[in-house]
Amino acid sequence: MGSVLVTGGAGYIGSHTCVELLECGREVIVIDNFVNSSYESIKRVQDITGKKMKFFEGDMRDRDFLRSVFSENEVDSVIHFAGLKAVGESCEVPLEYYDNNLNSLIALCETMAGFNVKKLVFSSSATVYGDNQPPYNENMKPGLITNPYGRTKYMAEQILSDLSISDGEWSILILRYFNPIGAHESGKIGEDPKGIPNNLMPYILKVAIGELPELKVFGGDYKTPDGTCIRDYIHVVDLAKGHISALKKLDKFKGFDIYNLGTGKGCSVLELINKFEEVCKVNLNYSVGDRRDGDLPVCFADTSKAEKQLNWKAKYDIGRMCEDSWRWQISNPKGYKR
Ligand code: NAD
Ligand code: UFG
Repeated sequence: MGSVLVTGGAGYIGSHTCVELLECGREVIVIDNFVNSSYESIKRVQDITGKKMKFFEGDMRDRDFLRSVFSENEVDSVIHFAGLKAVGESCEVPLEYYDNNLNSLIALCETMAGFNVKKLVFSSSATVYGDNQPPYNENMKPGLITNPYGRTKYMAEQILSDLSISDGEWSILILRYFNPIGAHESGKIGEDPKGIPNNLMPYILKVAIGELPELKVFGGDYKTPDGTCIRDYIHVVDLAKGHISALKKLDKFKGFDIYNLGTGKGCSVLELINKFEEVCKVNLNYSVGDRRDGDLPVCFADTSKAEKQLNWKAKYDIGRMCEDSWRWQISNPKGYKR
Protein backbone atom coordinates (compact mmCIF):
# COMPACT_ATOMS: atom_id res chain seq x y z
CA MET A 1 0.00 0.00 0.00
CA GLY A 2 1.33 3.48 -0.85
CA SER A 3 1.68 6.36 1.59
CA VAL A 4 -0.92 8.73 2.94
CA LEU A 5 -0.03 12.34 2.16
CA VAL A 6 -1.13 14.60 5.01
CA THR A 7 -1.19 18.28 4.03
CA GLY A 8 -1.06 20.61 7.04
CA GLY A 9 0.22 17.66 9.05
CA ALA A 10 2.17 19.86 11.47
CA GLY A 11 -1.06 21.56 12.61
CA TYR A 12 -3.41 20.73 15.45
CA ILE A 13 -5.72 18.14 13.85
CA GLY A 14 -3.11 17.01 11.31
CA SER A 15 -0.52 16.09 13.96
CA HIS A 16 -3.05 14.02 15.93
CA THR A 17 -4.12 12.28 12.73
CA CYS A 18 -0.49 11.47 11.87
CA VAL A 19 -0.18 9.69 15.25
CA GLU A 20 -3.23 7.55 14.49
CA LEU A 21 -2.02 6.78 10.95
CA LEU A 22 1.44 5.73 12.14
CA GLU A 23 -0.07 3.66 14.91
CA CYS A 24 -2.16 1.70 12.47
CA GLY A 25 0.88 0.97 10.34
CA ARG A 26 0.52 3.49 7.51
CA GLU A 27 3.46 5.25 5.85
CA VAL A 28 2.96 9.00 6.23
CA ILE A 29 4.22 11.96 4.20
CA VAL A 30 3.60 15.45 5.58
CA ILE A 31 3.55 18.76 3.73
CA ASP A 32 3.39 22.00 5.70
CA ASN A 33 4.64 25.58 5.28
CA PHE A 34 4.44 26.33 9.04
CA VAL A 35 2.26 29.38 8.53
CA ASN A 36 0.44 28.29 11.69
CA SER A 37 2.66 25.55 13.15
CA SER A 38 6.25 24.48 13.75
CA TYR A 39 8.57 21.56 13.04
CA GLU A 40 8.47 20.63 16.72
CA SER A 41 5.05 18.95 16.33
CA ILE A 42 6.45 16.66 13.62
CA LYS A 43 9.29 15.62 15.93
CA ARG A 44 6.85 14.94 18.74
CA VAL A 45 4.55 12.80 16.59
CA GLN A 46 7.57 10.65 15.79
CA ASP A 47 8.53 10.63 19.45
CA ILE A 48 5.05 9.47 20.57
CA THR A 49 4.83 6.69 17.99
CA GLY A 50 8.50 5.71 17.69
CA LYS A 51 7.99 5.84 13.91
CA LYS A 52 9.33 8.11 11.18
CA MET A 53 7.38 10.24 8.69
CA LYS A 54 8.65 11.90 5.54
CA PHE A 55 8.36 15.66 5.70
CA PHE A 56 8.40 18.30 2.93
CA GLU A 57 8.33 22.01 3.76
CA GLY A 58 6.48 24.00 1.11
CA ASP A 59 3.34 25.77 0.07
CA MET A 60 0.34 23.85 -1.21
CA ARG A 61 -0.21 26.47 -3.93
CA ASP A 62 3.22 25.74 -5.44
CA ARG A 63 2.55 23.27 -8.26
CA ASP A 64 6.24 22.55 -8.99
CA PHE A 65 6.76 21.71 -5.34
CA LEU A 66 3.70 19.44 -5.29
CA ARG A 67 4.83 17.65 -8.45
CA SER A 68 8.24 17.00 -6.91
CA VAL A 69 6.63 15.46 -3.80
CA PHE A 70 4.36 13.23 -5.90
CA SER A 71 7.13 12.15 -8.25
CA GLU A 72 9.50 11.21 -5.41
CA ASN A 73 6.88 9.22 -3.46
CA GLU A 74 4.24 6.62 -4.04
CA VAL A 75 1.14 8.39 -2.74
CA ASP A 76 -1.98 6.26 -2.29
CA SER A 77 -4.36 8.83 -0.80
CA VAL A 78 -4.40 12.39 0.55
CA ILE A 79 -5.87 14.00 3.67
CA HIS A 80 -6.02 17.74 3.01
CA PHE A 81 -5.90 19.72 6.27
CA ALA A 82 -3.73 22.63 5.07
CA GLY A 83 -5.56 25.93 5.18
CA LEU A 84 -6.15 29.10 7.15
CA LYS A 85 -8.88 28.83 9.78
CA ALA A 86 -9.36 32.00 11.84
CA VAL A 87 -12.88 33.33 11.36
CA GLY A 88 -12.14 36.92 12.47
CA GLU A 89 -8.93 37.17 10.44
CA SER A 90 -10.79 35.94 7.35
CA CYS A 91 -13.04 39.03 7.55
CA GLU A 92 -9.95 41.30 7.65
CA VAL A 93 -7.95 39.62 4.86
CA PRO A 94 -10.53 37.71 2.79
CA LEU A 95 -8.34 37.48 -0.32
CA GLU A 96 -5.64 35.65 1.64
CA TYR A 97 -8.25 33.13 2.74
CA TYR A 98 -9.72 32.58 -0.72
CA ASP A 99 -6.23 32.37 -2.21
CA ASN A 100 -4.81 29.99 0.36
CA ASN A 101 -7.78 27.72 0.92
CA LEU A 102 -9.04 27.48 -2.66
CA ASN A 103 -5.85 27.72 -4.73
CA SER A 104 -4.24 25.07 -2.49
CA LEU A 105 -7.13 22.74 -3.16
CA ILE A 106 -7.07 23.30 -6.92
CA ALA A 107 -3.29 22.85 -7.15
CA LEU A 108 -3.55 19.69 -5.07
CA CYS A 109 -6.35 18.14 -7.14
CA GLU A 110 -4.62 18.97 -10.44
CA THR A 111 -1.42 17.38 -9.20
CA MET A 112 -3.23 14.33 -7.86
CA ALA A 113 -5.01 13.85 -11.18
CA GLY A 114 -1.68 14.17 -13.01
CA PHE A 115 -0.27 11.31 -10.92
CA ASN A 116 -3.52 9.32 -11.05
CA VAL A 117 -4.01 9.58 -7.29
CA LYS A 118 -7.74 10.06 -6.80
CA LYS A 119 -8.51 9.31 -3.16
CA LEU A 120 -9.04 12.42 -1.05
CA VAL A 121 -10.34 13.29 2.41
CA PHE A 122 -11.09 16.99 2.88
CA SER A 123 -11.41 18.99 6.14
CA SER A 124 -14.62 20.95 6.13
CA SER A 125 -16.54 22.56 8.93
CA ALA A 126 -19.91 22.61 10.65
CA THR A 127 -19.89 26.29 9.75
CA VAL A 128 -21.38 25.40 6.33
CA TYR A 129 -24.69 24.55 8.06
CA GLY A 130 -25.02 28.24 8.92
CA ASP A 131 -28.42 29.04 10.37
CA ASN A 132 -30.04 25.63 9.83
CA GLN A 133 -31.90 24.09 12.76
CA PRO A 134 -29.66 21.68 14.74
CA PRO A 135 -29.01 18.77 14.95
CA TYR A 136 -27.35 19.23 11.58
CA ASN A 137 -27.48 16.36 9.14
CA GLU A 138 -25.56 15.99 5.91
CA ASN A 139 -28.69 16.24 3.72
CA MET A 140 -29.46 19.79 4.84
CA LYS A 141 -28.88 22.56 2.36
CA PRO A 142 -26.04 24.89 3.49
CA GLY A 143 -27.33 27.77 5.58
CA LEU A 144 -26.31 31.41 5.82
CA ILE A 145 -22.52 31.48 6.15
CA THR A 146 -21.39 34.63 7.95
CA ASN A 147 -17.66 34.85 7.12
CA PRO A 148 -15.11 34.36 4.30
CA TYR A 149 -13.45 31.39 6.04
CA GLY A 150 -16.75 29.51 6.11
CA ARG A 151 -17.37 30.41 2.48
CA THR A 152 -14.00 28.95 1.45
CA LYS A 153 -15.10 25.65 3.02
CA TYR A 154 -18.44 25.76 1.22
CA MET A 155 -16.78 26.61 -2.11
CA ALA A 156 -14.18 23.86 -1.62
CA GLU A 157 -16.99 21.34 -1.12
CA GLN A 158 -18.59 22.55 -4.37
CA ILE A 159 -15.30 22.28 -6.27
CA LEU A 160 -14.83 18.72 -5.06
CA SER A 161 -18.40 17.75 -5.88
CA ASP A 162 -17.97 19.11 -9.43
CA LEU A 163 -14.68 17.26 -9.78
CA SER A 164 -16.25 13.94 -8.81
CA ILE A 165 -19.09 14.49 -11.28
CA SER A 166 -16.59 15.22 -14.07
CA ASP A 167 -14.51 12.10 -13.43
CA GLY A 168 -16.02 9.01 -11.81
CA GLU A 169 -12.59 7.66 -10.81
CA TRP A 170 -12.34 10.05 -7.87
CA SER A 171 -13.19 8.96 -4.31
CA ILE A 172 -13.77 12.07 -2.22
CA LEU A 173 -14.97 12.28 1.37
CA ILE A 174 -15.79 15.59 3.00
CA LEU A 175 -15.56 15.58 6.79
CA ARG A 176 -17.42 18.38 8.54
CA TYR A 177 -15.79 18.90 11.92
CA PHE A 178 -17.68 20.31 14.87
CA ASN A 179 -15.58 21.87 17.69
CA PRO A 180 -12.33 19.96 18.23
CA ILE A 181 -10.67 20.41 21.63
CA GLY A 182 -8.44 18.22 23.80
CA ALA A 183 -4.99 16.84 23.08
CA HIS A 184 -3.09 13.58 22.86
CA GLU A 185 -2.97 11.83 26.25
CA SER A 186 0.85 12.00 26.26
CA GLY A 187 0.64 15.80 26.66
CA LYS A 188 3.24 16.09 23.87
CA ILE A 189 1.04 17.48 21.10
CA GLY A 190 -1.91 19.84 21.25
CA GLU A 191 -3.29 23.11 19.94
CA ASP A 192 -0.75 25.94 19.91
CA PRO A 193 -2.49 29.11 18.73
CA LYS A 194 -0.42 32.15 17.83
CA GLY A 195 -1.19 35.29 19.87
CA ILE A 196 -4.40 35.72 21.83
CA PRO A 197 -6.68 32.75 21.16
CA ASN A 198 -10.05 33.21 19.48
CA ASN A 199 -11.51 29.85 20.43
CA LEU A 200 -12.95 28.95 23.79
CA MET A 201 -10.75 26.08 25.03
CA PRO A 202 -7.41 27.71 24.13
CA TYR A 203 -8.64 30.86 25.90
CA ILE A 204 -9.68 28.89 28.99
CA LEU A 205 -6.20 27.33 29.08
CA LYS A 206 -4.43 30.70 28.93
CA VAL A 207 -6.59 32.04 31.77
CA ALA A 208 -6.14 28.87 33.83
CA ILE A 209 -2.34 29.09 33.54
CA GLY A 210 -2.35 32.82 34.37
CA GLU A 211 -1.23 34.14 31.01
CA LEU A 212 -4.49 36.02 30.44
CA PRO A 213 -6.42 37.70 33.27
CA GLU A 214 -10.02 36.83 32.51
CA LEU A 215 -12.27 34.85 30.21
CA LYS A 216 -15.21 36.73 28.73
CA VAL A 217 -18.22 34.56 28.10
CA PHE A 218 -19.72 35.96 24.91
CA GLY A 219 -23.39 36.41 25.76
CA GLY A 220 -25.53 35.12 28.61
CA ASP A 221 -28.91 35.93 27.11
CA TYR A 222 -29.30 33.30 24.38
CA LYS A 223 -32.42 31.14 24.35
CA THR A 224 -30.58 28.16 25.83
CA PRO A 225 -31.02 26.61 29.31
CA ASP A 226 -28.22 28.67 30.93
CA GLY A 227 -28.24 31.55 28.42
CA THR A 228 -24.82 30.70 26.88
CA CYS A 229 -24.11 29.20 23.44
CA ILE A 230 -24.12 25.47 22.90
CA ARG A 231 -21.50 23.65 20.81
CA ASP A 232 -20.63 20.06 19.95
CA TYR A 233 -17.10 19.72 21.38
CA ILE A 234 -15.23 16.67 20.12
CA HIS A 235 -11.93 15.24 21.37
CA VAL A 236 -9.26 15.78 18.72
CA VAL A 237 -8.16 12.14 19.05
CA ASP A 238 -11.69 10.95 18.26
CA LEU A 239 -11.65 13.31 15.29
CA ALA A 240 -8.28 11.94 14.16
CA LYS A 241 -9.63 8.39 14.35
CA GLY A 242 -12.53 9.48 12.13
CA HIS A 243 -9.96 10.05 9.37
CA ILE A 244 -8.73 6.46 9.67
CA SER A 245 -12.33 5.30 9.22
CA ALA A 246 -12.75 7.63 6.24
CA LEU A 247 -9.58 6.24 4.59
CA LYS A 248 -10.95 2.71 4.99
CA LYS A 249 -14.13 3.77 3.22
CA LEU A 250 -12.14 5.40 0.38
CA ASP A 251 -10.71 1.99 -0.52
CA LYS A 252 -14.12 0.61 -1.43
CA PHE A 253 -15.93 3.68 -2.67
CA LYS A 254 -16.06 5.91 -5.75
CA GLY A 255 -17.77 9.29 -5.90
CA PHE A 256 -18.37 12.05 -3.36
CA ASP A 257 -19.87 11.90 0.12
CA ILE A 258 -20.08 14.02 3.27
CA TYR A 259 -19.88 13.06 6.95
CA ASN A 260 -20.28 14.99 10.18
CA LEU A 261 -17.64 14.35 12.81
CA GLY A 262 -19.02 15.43 16.16
CA THR A 263 -20.34 13.76 19.31
CA GLY A 264 -23.98 14.64 18.71
CA LYS A 265 -24.10 16.22 22.20
CA GLY A 266 -24.35 19.92 22.91
CA CYS A 267 -22.44 21.57 25.76
CA SER A 268 -22.86 25.21 26.80
CA VAL A 269 -20.00 27.63 27.49
CA LEU A 270 -20.82 27.59 31.21
CA GLU A 271 -21.01 23.78 31.28
CA LEU A 272 -17.56 23.58 29.70
CA ILE A 273 -16.15 26.08 32.21
CA ASN A 274 -17.68 24.21 35.17
CA LYS A 275 -16.41 20.85 33.92
CA PHE A 276 -12.93 22.28 33.37
CA GLU A 277 -12.83 23.67 36.93
CA GLU A 278 -14.05 20.36 38.35
CA VAL A 279 -11.71 17.93 36.57
CA CYS A 280 -8.63 20.18 36.42
CA LYS A 281 -9.13 21.53 39.95
CA VAL A 282 -8.56 25.17 39.00
CA ASN A 283 -10.70 28.25 39.45
CA LEU A 284 -11.25 30.19 36.25
CA ASN A 285 -11.65 33.93 36.42
CA TYR A 286 -14.53 34.69 34.09
CA SER A 287 -17.43 37.05 33.57
CA VAL A 288 -20.39 37.08 31.24
CA GLY A 289 -20.23 39.88 28.67
CA ASP A 290 -21.75 40.89 25.35
CA ARG A 291 -22.52 38.54 22.50
CA ARG A 292 -19.86 38.04 19.79
CA ASP A 293 -20.98 38.96 16.26
CA GLY A 294 -21.78 35.99 14.06
CA ASP A 295 -22.17 33.38 16.84
CA LEU A 296 -25.03 30.94 16.48
CA PRO A 297 -26.86 30.04 19.70
CA VAL A 298 -26.76 26.28 19.20
CA CYS A 299 -24.67 24.00 16.98
CA PHE A 300 -24.47 20.22 17.24
CA ALA A 301 -24.29 17.27 14.89
CA ASP A 302 -26.46 14.41 13.86
CA THR A 303 -23.72 11.77 13.80
CA SER A 304 -25.81 8.79 12.69
CA LYS A 305 -24.47 8.73 9.12
CA ALA A 306 -20.82 8.48 10.22
CA GLU A 307 -21.76 5.87 12.83
CA LYS A 308 -23.53 3.69 10.28
CA GLN A 309 -21.41 4.17 7.19
CA LEU A 310 -17.93 4.86 8.59
CA ASN A 311 -18.39 2.63 11.60
CA TRP A 312 -17.02 5.48 13.71
CA LYS A 313 -18.29 7.04 16.92
CA ALA A 314 -16.65 9.56 19.25
CA LYS A 315 -15.93 8.02 22.65
CA TYR A 316 -14.33 10.68 24.87
CA ASP A 317 -16.50 12.88 27.09
CA ILE A 318 -16.14 16.56 27.99
CA GLY A 319 -14.29 15.75 31.24
CA ARG A 320 -11.63 13.83 29.33
CA MET A 321 -11.36 16.64 26.76
CA CYS A 322 -10.68 19.14 29.59
CA GLU A 323 -8.20 16.84 31.33
CA ASP A 324 -6.16 16.22 28.16
CA SER A 325 -6.22 19.90 27.14
CA TRP A 326 -4.92 20.88 30.58
CA ARG A 327 -2.16 18.23 30.57
CA TRP A 328 -0.92 19.63 27.22
CA GLN A 329 -1.04 23.20 28.58
CA ILE A 330 0.80 22.56 31.85
CA SER A 331 3.41 20.36 30.17
CA ASN A 332 4.00 23.05 27.50
CA PRO A 333 3.23 26.47 29.00
CA LYS A 334 4.72 28.14 25.91
CA GLY A 335 3.26 25.64 23.45
CA TYR A 336 5.90 24.24 21.11
CA LYS A 337 8.32 27.08 21.96
CA ARG A 338 10.29 25.67 24.87
P1 NAD B 1 -3.96 24.36 11.99
O1 NAD B 1 -3.79 25.77 11.60
O2 NAD B 1 -3.42 23.91 13.29
O3 NAD B 1 -3.38 23.40 10.84
C1 NAD B 1 -3.37 23.77 9.49
C2 NAD B 1 -1.95 23.53 8.99
O4 NAD B 1 -1.90 23.86 7.59
C3 NAD B 1 -0.91 24.39 9.69
O5 NAD B 1 0.16 23.55 10.13
C4 NAD B 1 -0.44 25.37 8.63
O6 NAD B 1 0.90 25.73 8.81
C5 NAD B 1 -0.69 24.58 7.35
N1 NAD B 1 -0.93 25.39 6.14
C6 NAD B 1 -1.82 26.40 5.97
N2 NAD B 1 -1.76 26.87 4.72
C7 NAD B 1 -0.81 26.15 4.07
C8 NAD B 1 -0.30 26.14 2.74
N3 NAD B 1 -0.75 27.01 1.82
N4 NAD B 1 0.66 25.25 2.42
C9 NAD B 1 1.13 24.36 3.35
N5 NAD B 1 0.68 24.31 4.62
C10 NAD B 1 -0.29 25.20 4.96
O7 NAD B 1 -5.54 24.05 11.90
P2 NAD B 1 -6.35 22.76 12.39
O8 NAD B 1 -7.20 23.16 13.53
O9 NAD B 1 -5.45 21.60 12.51
O10 NAD B 1 -7.32 22.59 11.13
C11 NAD B 1 -7.04 21.70 10.08
C12 NAD B 1 -8.12 21.84 9.02
O11 NAD B 1 -9.40 21.58 9.61
C13 NAD B 1 -8.22 23.22 8.40
O12 NAD B 1 -8.51 23.11 7.03
C14 NAD B 1 -9.38 23.85 9.14
O13 NAD B 1 -10.01 24.84 8.38
C15 NAD B 1 -10.28 22.66 9.37
N6 NAD B 1 -11.20 22.82 10.51
C16 NAD B 1 -10.69 23.11 11.74
C17 NAD B 1 -11.57 23.31 12.81
C18 NAD B 1 -11.06 23.67 14.18
O14 NAD B 1 -11.85 24.14 15.00
N7 NAD B 1 -9.78 23.46 14.50
C19 NAD B 1 -12.96 23.18 12.63
C20 NAD B 1 -13.44 22.86 11.36
C21 NAD B 1 -12.54 22.68 10.30
N1 UFG C 1 -16.54 31.88 23.47
C1 UFG C 1 -16.56 32.67 24.59
N2 UFG C 1 -15.42 33.32 24.94
C2 UFG C 1 -14.27 33.22 24.23
C3 UFG C 1 -14.25 32.40 23.08
C4 UFG C 1 -15.42 31.76 22.72
O1 UFG C 1 -17.59 32.78 25.27
O2 UFG C 1 -13.27 33.85 24.60
C5 UFG C 1 -17.78 31.16 23.09
C6 UFG C 1 -18.26 31.56 21.72
O3 UFG C 1 -19.09 32.69 21.80
C7 UFG C 1 -19.03 30.31 21.32
C8 UFG C 1 -18.26 29.17 21.99
O4 UFG C 1 -17.48 29.79 23.01
O5 UFG C 1 -20.30 30.35 21.86
C9 UFG C 1 -17.33 28.44 21.05
O6 UFG C 1 -16.54 29.38 20.37
P1 UFG C 1 -15.26 28.98 19.51
O7 UFG C 1 -14.67 30.26 18.99
O8 UFG C 1 -14.37 28.10 20.29
O9 UFG C 1 -15.87 28.09 18.35
P2 UFG C 1 -16.97 28.43 17.24
O10 UFG C 1 -18.11 27.48 17.46
O11 UFG C 1 -17.27 29.85 17.18
O12 UFG C 1 -16.20 28.05 15.88
C10 UFG C 1 -15.35 26.92 15.76
C11 UFG C 1 -14.21 27.24 14.78
C12 UFG C 1 -14.77 27.44 13.39
C13 UFG C 1 -15.57 26.23 12.99
C14 UFG C 1 -16.63 25.91 14.02
C15 UFG C 1 -17.26 24.60 13.66
O13 UFG C 1 -13.53 28.41 15.18
O14 UFG C 1 -13.72 27.56 12.48
O15 UFG C 1 -16.06 25.81 15.32
O16 UFG C 1 -18.36 24.35 14.44
F1 UFG C 1 -16.15 26.46 11.80
